[in-house]
Amino acid sequence: MCGIIGYTTKKDNAVNVTISGLKNLEYRGYDSSGIAFTTDRVNIIKSKGKIANLEEKLTQQDISSCCAIAHTRWATHGEPSEMNAHPHRVGSVTLVHNGIIENYSQLKEELISKGYEFKTQTDTEVATAYIDYCYKQTKDKLQAIIQACSKFRGSYAFNIIFDDELQTIYATRKDSPLVIGYSHEGNFAASDVSAILNYTKQYSLIDEGEFVKINKDVVTFYNTKLQIVQKEIKTATWDATQYQKNGYDHFMLKEIFEQPDVIQNIYNRYYDDCSYNDIDFTKFDKIHIVACGSAMHASLVGKYLLQTYAKIPVMVEIASEYRYAEELITPSTLLIVVSQSGETADTLAALRLAKEKGAYVVGIVNAVGSTISREVDKCIYTYAGPEIAVATTKGYTSQVAVLSTLAINAMKQNGLLDAENEKTLKNDLLNIKEKLEDVLKNKEKYLDIAKSIYNHEDLFFIGRGIDSSICMEGSLKLKEISYMHSESYSAGELKHGTISLIENGTPVIAIATNEELFEKTVSNVKETKARGAFSIFITTSAHQDYNFDEFADKVVIVPNTTEFTQAILVVTALQLIAYETAKLRKCDIDKPRNLAKSVTVE
Ligand code: G6P
Repeated sequence: MCGIIGYTTKKDNAVNVTISGLKNLEYRGYDSSGIAFTTDRVNIIKSKGKIANLEEKLTQQDISSCCAIAHTRWATHGEPSEMNAHPHRVGSVTLVHNGIIENYSQLKEELISKGYEFKTQTDTEVATAYIDYCYKQTKDKLQAIIQACSKFRGSYAFNIIFDDELQTIYATRKDSPLVIGYSHEGNFAASDVSAILNYTKQYSLIDEGEFVKINKDVVTFYNTKLQIVQKEIKTATWDATQYQKNGYDHFMLKEIFEQPDVIQNIYNRYYDDCSYNDIDFTKFDKIHIVACGSAMHASLVGKYLLQTYAKIPVMVEIASEYRYAEELITPSTLLIVVSQSGETADTLAALRLAKEKGAYVVGIVNAVGSTISREVDKCIYTYAGPEIAVATTKGYTSQVAVLSTLAINAMKQNGLLDAENEKTLKNDLLNIKEKLEDVLKNKEKYLDIAKSIYNHEDLFFIGRGIDSSICMEGSLKLKEISYMHSESYSAGELKHGTISLIENGTPVIAIATNEELFEKTVSNVKETKARGAFSIFITTSAHQDYNFDEFADKVVIVPNTTEFTQAILVVTALQLIAYETAKLRKCDIDKPRNLAKSVTVE
């Protein structure tokens, strides 16, 4: 979602630096962009669509400037348009904003009664006007921002410039991310460190209720009482090369191919991690796992493993729905929140609700220092490195990997792992890299399958047990990036209605990895085949000698492993099928339409 970068510098290159930073934030998803840069006044340039359109406009004028704030907007209030794009300017205030001011209609009426006029439908223009109004009252910039923020309900990260202080950026945040970056040539305020890594690795996190004054050579943090706050300066562990494609056609492909290392590292790091014992599984009567999108699909695999092997009742809930299960959250609930970005607004709201209710909250998070990682009782990082493609790949598989290690730990604590099984699991987890590399070698097979499905508009994924959760992720991956309509069904459920949609040639991707469920899934595939389906059958090397001819038009075989790692192998194959299909359909693979990587509004 919206990306922000502000920079104030001793030099005159603030425009180029902020635009290059903005490009590193493109992955968050956006539909328009804009910049305000100061000369002897504030200059604002905005554009609908890609940042390249904004750059084109900037070539038409002198862009020497020592202070700029720039923004990519993912429309919430008001259509994507040049008018609605940020920065917004009212009176003597110019600002960019990430988040939603929920009570903006009310504030707008208040401001209209005081003589303010509005040009756009956005909540951000109202926030700008409100700060301008407070500045006129208080004549003090920090006080004005503090006073205005006390009126705002909802979420925000702001970079603000005032007309009478053209080389200073003011910044604050609530429930939307913003970090401060420090370099020898100037200082930054940006949505995340990826925006500033080309210039510095030194950064500080802004806590809620902090207000920051950023000058080219000094940055000062204040609390709401205007007392100065001392901040820790951190060093980013990710570097700028991780934000490049490094020879791959797309970030998505690069991230798919990073999975063998990412997953192996997780297993090496966490297989025997004693710090897991901080989580006393014997203390809780139930586990809730809460997440959004693919992270929710990873949670379903986690649920299967925790329930089946550690014998703990688990409920998985979509984060935006969790508040409606409020009655079920008690101090004996273990809540696991799963989030790649660590900033997803609904997941954050769920964790805050559970903490209020006394639950113990564990986070499985990729982005180090993100809001969720800071608010949970215990954070387990996936350390997957930056994920740029909007459609998650290594983000999802790394979440499954961490959940599988948690399930193993819960089994140990519950006395459910004997020495022989432990040996099998250890061997499986600590040798996953090679098997994942085998899955990646099958490029021709995935392309061949893509060729057989890419000109269809409807497709079904079916599977049972753990395979049904894998289907959900495979189906989501395909729709996200190829825009094909696809549905995921428990294989046994299809005949209770949806099988009516199967006609001659309808592609059905069936997954059958579980030994005991194999024959049942085969029967379900036959049911679709009998109605004309074109069937693609995915199974493991344990079944490679089976006679697939009767029911499968295409077969993919992945290495056979335990159920703790099987999902990771199968999903990797599905990611590549989705990738090749989207490529044939000439889709914008890394930045699919309408999607945002980091969804920071509820
Ligand atoms: C967005 C992304 C998905 C992601 C979901 C949850 O919808 O496009 O890929 O799975 O958010 O994100 P999180 O960062 O919390 O894992």
